[in-house]
Amino acid sequence: MATREKTTLATSRLEHRYVEDLGPGSGRSAPRAAPRSDAAVLGLDGEWRFRLAAGLHDTAEGFEDPAFEAGAWDLIAVPSMWQMHDLDGEAPYGKPQYTNIHYPFPVDPPRVPDANPTGEYRRSFTLPDEWPEGGRTLLRFEGVDSCFAVWLNGVRLGDGKGSRLPTEFDATVHLRPGENTVAVRVHQWSAGSYLEDQDTWWLSGIFRPVSLLHRPEGGLDDVFAHAGYDHAAGLGTLMVEATAAGRVSVPELGIDIATGESATVPVEPWTAETPRLYDAVVATATERVSLRVGFRTVAVEDGVLKVNGRPILLRGVNRHEWDPDTGRTLSVETMRRDIEIMKRHNVNAVRTSHYAPDRRFLELCDELGMWVIDECDLETHGFGHYGWRENPANDPKWREACLDRMARMVERDKNHPSVIMWSLGNECNEGENLEAMAAWAKQRDASRLVHYEGDYDSPYVDVYSRMYVPHDELDGIGRREEEPTRDPAHDAHRRSLPFILCEYAHAMGNGPGGLADYQRLFERHERCAGGFVWEWIDQGVRRRTEDGREWFAYGGDFGEILHDGNFITDGLVFSDRSPSPGLVEYKKVIEPVRIVIDSGERTIAVANGHDFADTSHLRFTWRFEDGGEEIASGGLEVPVVAAGGSVRVVWPEELRKAAATAAGEGWVTVRALLDGEMAWAEAGHEIAWGQAPLPHPQAPPVIGAGVAPAAVAAGYRLGGAEFDALGRLTSFGGIEIEGPRLDLWRAPADNDRVAWGGLSTAAHWRERDMALDRLEHKVLDVEAGGGGLTVSTRVGAGGARIGMSAQYAWSYDPEAAKLWLTVSVAPEGEWAHPLPRLGVRLAVPKDLDAVTWFGGGPGEAYTDTRAAARIGRYEATVGEMQTPYAFPQENGSRIDVRWARLAGTNGTALTCFGAPHFAFTVRPWTSEDLEAAMHPHELVERDRLYVNLDAALHGMGSASCGPGVLPEYRLPAEPAGFTIGFGTERS
Ligand code: GAL
Repeated sequence: MATREKTTLATSRLEHRYVEDLGPGSGRSAPRAAPRSDAAVLGLDGEWRFRLAAGLHDTAEGFEDPAFEAGAWDLIAVPSMWQMHDLDGEAPYGKPQYTNIHYPFPVDPPRVPDANPTGEYRRSFTLPDEWPEGGRTLLRFEGVDSCFAVWLNGVRLGDGKGSRLPTEFDATVHLRPGENTVAVRVHQWSAGSYLEDQDTWWLSGIFRPVSLLHRPEGGLDDVFAHAGYDHAAGLGTLMVEATAAGRVSVPELGIDIATGESATVPVEPWTAETPRLYDAVVATATERVSLRVGFRTVAVEDGVLKVNGRPILLRGVNRHEWDPDTGRTLSVETMRRDIEIMKRHNVNAVRTSHYAPDRRFLELCDELGMWVIDECDLETHGFGHYGWRENPANDPKWREACLDRMARMVERDKNHPSVIMWSLGNECNEGENLEAMAAWAKQRDASRLVHYEGDYDSPYVDVYSRMYVPHDELDGIGRREEEPTRDPAHDAHRRSLPFILCEYAHAMGNGPGGLADYQRLFERHERCAGGFVWEWIDQGVRRRTEDGREWFAYGGDFGEILHDGNFITDGLVFSDRSPSPGLVEYKKVIEPVRIVIDSGERTIAVANGHDFADTSHLRFTWRFEDGGEEIASGGLEVPVVAAGGSVRVVWPEELRKAAATAAGEGWVTVRALLDGEMAWAEAGHEIAWGQAPLPHPQAPPVIGAGVAPAAVAAGYRLGGAEFDALGRLTSFGGIEIEGPRLDLWRAPADNDRVAWGGLSTAAHWRERDMALDRLEHKVLDVEAGGGGLTVSTRVGAGGARIGMSAQYAWSYDPEAAKLWLTVSVAPEGEWAHPLPRLGVRLAVPKDLDAVTWFGGGPGEAYTDTRAAARIGRYEATVGEMQTPYAFPQENGSRIDVRWARLAGTNGTALTCFGAPHFAFTVRPWTSEDLEAAMHPHELVERDRLYVNLDAALHGMGSASCGPGVLPEYRLPAEPAGFTIGFGTERS
C-alpha cells in the first residue's frame, strides 16, 4: 500500500511538472498576429463543466477522457475568473486576494504552494459538418491565468503560461468529425506567477475567449503590415510581410501589390487625433485576411518624441483591465466604454499596465484614436523586498520565459497603428533578460520604440521613463539637466532621449493634487512627451449588502490575511466607471485647446494644443453671467486654428453690451464644443473652456452699525441670534444652529494617510503633541460689548502643549438682518506641521437639504485640485454633494464660494456669506464619522447636517504614491482672521 501511494505521488509530480518548470509551455504553435480572416472559426466560449480542486494532489483522475462522467460538475462561464462567482452568496470557487508588491505565497522560485487551486474544465462541441478538410486546426486561448494544460479527445496537446497572452495548440490530428471533447486544467499558481506580480487582484481561470481556428493549406498564418508615413511628402508606404505569398489590396488607395512588395501613395496619416484607417485585404488562393491599416511613423528626433514629424504630448492613463463584477474578463462594450470615457475627458494615451490587454481593446484604440504603450506581462516586483536576489528578469534560467512573453505580445499586436511603443514590463528592476527582450523587439519591429521604466540608466530603451518624480525633478529632466547615470557610459544616450512619466499623479481617493503643475512642465519642455496618470479605474469588487445596497470591496474585504487594503482603489473613474473629481480635473488640465479671456482688452485668445488636428471640429460659445445668473449668451466666431497655432478675437458686440450692464460680479465663460458627432461623443460635448471675471473691486462686507447684545436667562441675545452662557450660538432667526466653532480637522484623505518612508501627514496631525483629531475648546472669556459679543477661547488637545487661541467676534446688522462672525486665530507654541483646514464647523437642521451656491463648482475642489472649478451658481442636494470614495475620507468641498444657501422644504433657509469667499462643505455626517467608516455604505446619516466654512485648506498632493503637497498649497499654522455672515429666511 505504502509503495503504491508513493508511486502515485511521484507520477502525479511528473505529470504536473510543467506547473513549476521555468519554461513558457510545451506543444504550442509559434506566436502570430492571427488577424481576422475568412477561414473557419468555431467559438468555444459558453458554459463549460467545472470543478475546483484544492491542489495538484486533488485533481480528478482521467478527467480528460471523453468518457469521463462530469455531468454532476458545476457549469461555469468561459471566459470568466473563478473567484468572481457569487461573492455575496456561497463564493463556491474561493475569493479574490489583493496584494501590491508582496507575492501571496512563499518566495521560493519556482516552487508554488501545495494549496494551489486548480480548475478543471471540460466541454464537448460538435465540429460543424462544413469544417474544411485539409490544412490545420488550432485551438486558441486568448488568456488563461496562470498556467494550464490542454487535452483534446483525451490527448494532451500541451501546456502554457503567460496569463495575458495568447497560446495556440495544433489540434489537427486529434480533432474528429462530429463530437469532440476538450479538457483544460488551470492552476492558480505556477512558476509563471513569479513573473506576474502586478499590483492587482490575484484571480484565475480561462478569462479570455477560446476558439478553434482553421488554417487552410496555403493560407496566411501571419501577416505584418508595415505602414509608414512621410510627412514631408504626404505619402504613405505599405508593405505587407506574410507567411505565404499573396496579394495585398487597399481599394480606397488603389493599391494592389504582392506581399513583400511596397507601394507609396498619397494618404491621410493615422494619429490618435485623426485615426484614419484604410481597409486592406491580403489574399492567397485559400484565405483572405482583413486588416485595418493606419499610416504613421514614430521617431525620436533631436531627443524629441515625434509621430509623423511632429512632437506629440501624451495625456495618458494607466489602464488595468477591470470590471467590478467579472474581474479581468471584459466585454467589448466595456472596452469601448473605457475609450469613450477617456476621449470624452481629453485623454489621448493608454499604457496597458501591466500586460497586453484583450486584443479587441487595441482594435478599438486603432478605430477611436489612442496612443498606446503596449506592455508585456512581466513584473517581478516582490523580489525587491529581498534586494532583487534571484530576480527572474536577471537570471538566465528565466530568459526563455521572458523572451517568449515579449514575442507573444509583439507578434499578436504588431499590426495596430495605435501601438507606438513596446514596453518590456513593469518593476522588474534591471536585468539581462530585459535587455534581450529589447534587442529582440527591435530586430523584429524597428518601427516602434522600446520602453521600460525600471532601469534608470536606460541603456537599451528609446525613451527615458520614470514614475512619480516630483515636479522640480521633472523640471530638471525637461531641461536635460538631470543627475548623470550611475554608469557614465550610458549618460549621453539617456540624455538624448525624450522623457515620459509612465506613472504619475496617483489617483487614490481625493486628488491627485498638483496635476496642473505637472502639465505646465510637460508643456514647457520639448523633451517631455507627457505622462500617464496612475491609474484609470478603481479596482473595487461590486458587492451588495443584505438589504441590496451596492458597495465596492478592496483588499482585506474577503478575509485575506495578506493584503494591501484600499491601495487597489486608486483610479480616475470609480469602480462603476463613473468619473471621479480627479478625472474631471484631469480633463480640464489636459484640455487640448486653451481659451484665455482678457476682460480688460475685451479679447479672447484661443490656442490649439492639438498635435495634429485643427479646430474645424469645434465650435465656440460665450456666456455672460452677473452674480451667477445668465444675462446673455451666443456663438463665437473663431477662425480655424491649425495645430499648435493661436488666434485672438474681440468680444462680440452682444457680449460687450451685456457686460456693460453688470451690477454684481460679472463673469465671461467661453467654451469649445464638438461641432458634430464623434464616434465617442455627441455633438455639443465640451472639450475646453475659459473663464474670466470683469474687473471689479473686491468690496469688504458691509457690516452695519451693529446692535448691543442682551443678557437673557440662557446666555445672550444679539438681534435674532441666541447664544448660551459660554457664548456659543444656539439659534439664529429661529433656526437651531450648533457652533460655529473653530475646526481644523479633516478625515484624512488617502494622500494624507499613506506614506512611503517616514510618517504620513495624517500621522503627524495625530501625534500626541498636535492631535488635531481630538481638539478641545476652552472658553476663556465672553464679553458683551456695545458692538457685539466677543468670545475668547483656546483650542488644544489632551496631552498637547501647543494650542491655538481663537476669538469669535459676533455682530448683528439689523438693517440687513445679517449676523457676522469674525474669527481670529493665533497658534501658541511650535506648530511644526501644516493644518488640514482653517475654518468653522456648524450643525444645522437636517431638512435644510437643498443647496444653492455661488462660487466654484459644480464638483469638489481643493487648493491644488481646482482647475476644473468654474465660478457659477449651482444647485444640489446634500446627498449629491458627497463624493463616494471607496475608502471614506475628506471630500465634497466647494471652493471660492461667495454665498451658500441651505433651504428646507418649509420655506426656511440659512445663507452663509463670504467676505469675500469660503470653502464650503455640507454633509449628513461629521468628519469623525467619515474617518471611522471603512466603506461608504457604512456611513449613517445623523439627524443634522454638518457644515464646514473654511478660510483655507491644505492641498491634497499625491503622497499616497508620489510627491506630497507642493509648498504653495500647504496651509501653515499662523495668525489669521476671516469673516463669515449668516442670514435666514422663514416663511
Ligand atoms: C507603481 C506600480 C503600479 C502601482 C503603483 C501604485 O509603482 O508600477 O503598478 O502599484 O505604483 O498604485
